[in-house]
Formats: sequence, structure tokens, C-alpha cells
Amino acid sequence: MKNGHASPDRDSLVLGLEASCDETAAAVVLRSAGGHGRILSNVIRTQWEQHRPFGGVVPEIAARAHVECLDVLTREAMREAGIEFGGLSAVAATAGPGLIGGLIVGLVTGKAIALAHAKPFLAVHHLEAHALTVGLTEGLAPPYLLLLVSGGHTQLLIVHGVGRYERLGTTIDDALGEAFDKTAKLLGLGFPGGPAVERAARSGDASRFELPRPMLGRKEPHFSFAGLKTAVRRAAEQVAPLTDQDAADIAAAFEAAVNDCVRDRCARAMELAEQRLGPSAPRHLVVAGGVAANEQLRSALLSLAAERGYELHAPPIALCGDNAAMIAWAGAERLALGLSDPLDASARPRWPLDLDAAPAIGAGVKA
Ligand code: KG4
Ligand code: ZN
Repeated sequence: MKNGHASPDRDSLVLGLEASCDETAAAVVLRSAGGHGRILSNVIRTQWEQHRPFGGVVPEIAARAHVECLDVLTREAMREAGIEFGGLSAVAATAGPGLIGGLIVGLVTGKAIALAHAKPFLAVHHLEAHALTVGLTEGLAPPYLLLLVSGGHTQLLIVHGVGRYERLGTTIDDALGEAFDKTAKLLGLGFPGGPAVERAARSGDASRFELPRPMLGRKEPHFSFAGLKTAVRRAAEQVAPLTDQDAADIAAAFEAAVNDCVRDRCARAMELAEQRLGPSAPRHLVVAGGVAANEQLRSALLSLAAERGYELHAPPIALCGDNAAMIAWAGAERLALGLSDPLDASARPRWPLDLDAAPAIGAGVKA
């Protein structure tokens, strides 16, 4: 990481590339000198059809699919934005965390464009991009409390500023998106699991099955979802073979349990954030990551925020899941601070946002 490429008080046009999991995406974002963002193009191709027969993301298939379409999507993003590579201020690509094959595809493509056109390159942290999305969509500036819920991560963090994150809580086993995906699989609802569980739960009776609320009331705002998944399996076995109504009722019970856990853990994190930031700090709760698309979760968080005097901020659904506009924006934010990365920046499949965070209790802690 080095200083100097960009002047902080100029407009910047950044191309962002994302290929860390099962979406290939390219986008161009304009960041004004005043710090406002505008998306000029945002193209995305999902690989769900290729992974569906396997019930989950297959890394080799993902990497190949990224190779096949990233150049086409990049050209499309540039055409839609109406600019040439020479007109860019910088190129940003996701460097981690994620699946190594896809990360390399995105990085190599981004570096090649940056090198060929003599532009600064930014190796973007995927979670930082989720964390900063509200700056692009609403112009919200740190500090704020962030609930990051995706397929691979479940964390509560204080965002102090660009590059400055303090982790308050994490999951000691499964990520929340993973719990949705596994629940969908157990209930035969298909892939990707989150939207399928949400759809089924709408016609379900949440009170028919009683599911546990792991970690409720614990002092540190950590999460655990493995026990909930086991309880879903038991409930499904109890009533097998499952009717559509059985699946809907279990999905609704699962969502109710998740919401209780998330509310409780966020409430605890709010108390800690207030201690860290002081009583006069603004009270903003931001939810980001693919699971932030869940309407039930949003309304649970909305009522918690209202009770505690917080404002809830959630990106529009299209920018909750993986996309390249958030990568371009995170790149633009770093560029505005005078930062850029060398062309030998490596892919980082594991890459904690808060390097100082102590490990959570329990085995298999996700960074
Ligand atoms: O952030 P994201 O697109 O990719 C990762 O970086 O992981 O998150 C994907 C996760 C998947 O587990 C997916 O099932 C979940 O987000 N998800 C949802 C919903 N939409 C996507 N979970 C619950 N409800 C949804 N509506
Ligand atoms: Zn993500």
C-alpha cells in the first residue's frame, strides 16, 4: 500500500471487478471531490445455474465461469458508462477474502488493465466493500455500527473510518447465509437458499416448531448457528416426508429464531459501541451483505433500531449481495485517501477486517 497516486480533491472514475465467489461483476463508479458516489454502470452475471446441480458453490466451476465472462462484462460496464480505459482514474479488484481461483481471475484482469493503461491499482477487501456501500448509496459517513451478514461471514463491527474496523462479534461456527443455505437444502427448497427460505417462510406458521436461540443473552455479541441447523434437521426428520406446508412452517420458525438471535446480539453490540464511541456519537446501525436482502431481518432490525434511538441503513437489495459497484466505490474511497496497491498484491482467501480482533470462544472461528 502506498501514498501519492491520487489527489484527494478531484473527481474520480473507478472500474471495479468482483469475482470472489459465485457472481462475476464489473462496474464503473464516479466519486465526486465532495465524496458523493454515482454508479455509471453495474453489470453482474450469477453462476447459480452452474452450481445448482451440486447444491452449493463448486470452486473449480466458479473459477472457470469467471474466466469465461469477466472480460465481456468489463467491456459491457465500460460501454454502459460511456468511457474508455484511458479515462479511468484507477482500477479496483477484489483481492479477498473468497475463493482463490476467482480472486486470481479478478486480480489478474484488474492488474492487466491498470498496467496497460498506466492507472493506479487497488486490491480491495470484499468485506470492506460491503461495509462502505452505504457511503455510496446514502452518503453515510463513519462512525457507524455494522452488521455484516453474508454467505461466508457474520460479524458486528464498528466502522471508525475507511480501513479502520473494530470487530465486536463474529460467529463461532456457521455464517448466517450458510445457515440459510443449509436450511434450504434440508427442506428441499433449492439453491441459493436465502431467498428460497424467505419465500417459503411467508406462508408458514412460525409457532408450530420450537427452535433454539443460540447465544441469546451472552455478554459478547458473538453468534452461533450450528445448533439451529441441527434443530432444523431434527424438526424435518420428525415430520418426514415433508409437505410444502411442513417446509414453510420450519422455514418460518427458522427465520423467527434467527431474528431473535440477531436482535439480541445487535442490542448488545449497540451497548458496546456506545461505550466505545461515547454518548454523543451518532446512532447508526448499518446492515450489509447478501442476507441483508431478507425482509424479515430488515424489519426486526428496524424495530430494534427504533427502540434504541438508532437509524437503520440498508443498501437497496441489488447492492446487498455481491456486486462490483461496491468494489469500485471502496477503491475510490481508498484512492481519495491517496492509497493504491502494488501490481504484485496477492490474493488473500482469508483476510480479517480487524487484524487485532481476539478469537471468539469455540472452535472453527471464522475470520
Ligand atoms: O454477500 P453475498 O452475496 O456473498 C458472500 O459474500 O457470501 O451473500 C450471499 C448469501 C447466501 O448465503 C444467500 O443465501 C444469502 O446471502 N441471501 C439471503 C437472501 N438473499 C441472499 N439470505 C436470506 N434471505 C435472503 N433474501
Ligand atoms: Zn459478499
